[in-house]
Amino acid sequence: MLKPQIKALLENPPVGELVDARGWIKTRRDSGSVSFFELNDGSCLASLQVVAEKTLENFESEIRKITTGTSVYIQGRLVESPARGQSVELVARKIEIVGPADPETYPLQKKRHSFEFLRTIPQFRPRTNALAAVTRTRSVLSFAVHRFFMERGFFHVHTPIITTSDCEGAGEMFLVTTLEPGQVKDQDAFAEDFFGRRAGLTVSGQLQAEIYAQAMGRVYTFGPTFRAENSNTSRHLAEFWMVEPEMAFCDLRDDMDLAEECITVLINNVLAECEPELDLFNRFVAKGLVDRLTEIVARPFSRLSYTDAVDALLQSGRKFEYPVQWGIDLQSEHERFLCEEIIGGPVIVYDYPAEIKPFYMRMNDDGRTVAAMDILVPGIGELVGGSQREERYDKLTQRMDKAGLSREEYGWYLDLRRYGSTPHAGFGLGFERMVQLVTGMQNIREVIPFPRTPGSAPC
Ligand code: 4AD
Ligand code: MG
Repeated sequence: MLKPQIKALLENPPVGELVDARGWIKTRRDSGSVSFFELNDGSCLASLQVVAEKTLENFESEIRKITTGTSVYIQGRLVESPARGQSVELVARKIEIVGPADPETYPLQKKRHSFEFLRTIPQFRPRTNALAAVTRTRSVLSFAVHRFFMERGFFHVHTPIITTSDCEGAGEMFLVTTLEPGQVKDQDAFAEDFFGRRAGLTVSGQLQAEIYAQAMGRVYTFGPTFRAENSNTSRHLAEFWMVEPEMAFCDLRDDMDLAEECITVLINNVLAECEPELDLFNRFVAKGLVDRLTEIVARPFSRLSYTDAVDALLQSGRKFEYPVQWGIDLQSEHERFLCEEIIGGPVIVYDYPAEIKPFYMRMNDDGRTVAAMDILVPGIGELVGGSQREERYDKLTQRMDKAGLSREEYGWYLDLRRYGSTPHAGFGLGFERMVQLVTGMQNIREVIPFPRTPGSAPC
């Protein structure tokens, strides 16, 4: 049987009963012949106050010497707390030290450490209130993602992590090979490789999700994706998680509606289920966070074509580092100015120039834009990227030829247009950026347990 957690003891306190608890000591405070401990087991933000009296047999020899980070087992009686700050406390009958933590070398001694410092100790980072709160919120969000799609008739499909197709075509794939560096003289060398051809870590599960959407109607994949892009920003990781639904018989408008609903429902879930965590973020990480989230879910998102977005940026008179003109890929400075200053909330930008978007997006009747959409949110910029897919065989092969993609290698993808093709659409929601949005964390490295960035993969 699993042992009870502190969360359960605090939510439904069996006052007067003998209980046991286990966890890590956050702080010890001594007052005369009594010691007080904050005991935390990670199950919730709150710690359990433990009272240890001199009468305990190992009081002087052990209890008085317990330091921050020590793991302990405690048995005692749960009583109503006479002091402010907690409703119940545990009066110890027995305290056993499970694993000591030498205060001379254990790094978490201060009440608050910088996030930069915490990144250097991934082995202890989740023992801090902030990182544990982020991790619980991320877990709630992850479950909410599955619930959202399951409730709407989607099937969860595990798309491959190792793949031989580059979905985004941006050349940012990590190579997967068993060849030694010296053996890779040219591209032909991969014929001798493990898979008999060049393979890499997936940048998106979309192309494979399309296969299943064209059989099962509504599917989604939610897994790790990898990009070897050398961007050291607060919004990019080399390994991140993406939520990617794909729907047959679906156009760009349905796609935008679903993405907007998804974001709104996810935020509402966090507002309802992560109150203590949000309160912590609201006070110490991002002031006004809860108000901002409440505002986001209160109104429909603005929608604006790329052409209108470019006009609005030009008319704003604002000088950007990267000048704006029709045809450019919007940069983070443009995206953020658009949603933070011009719109003042989330905005869906759609119908982008075909030139700057991948081959699979559906060509619009104007012949120069594609049925793409990005959702931009304040503080972050792009949260979602999606599109209606090109379902017409001839149009798709034209785009592929132009992009230099082999019709033979993508024969399986073209087959979906040859046999029982349907208008279909989907999107990718960057899961870490979603966690950033709801926690207010400035840097994406704080919202994933083990951030991988250029030059950094410590464990
Ligand atoms: O816009 P992207 O590149 O879209 C795709 O990969 C499509 N195939 C998705 C689809 O239609 N199924 O990426 C989608 C989202 C972005 O909007 C962003 O939130 C996130 O993934 N993202 C990253 N997050 C963290 N680090 C990175 N390096 C990211 N690159 C993209
Ligand atoms: Mg994108």
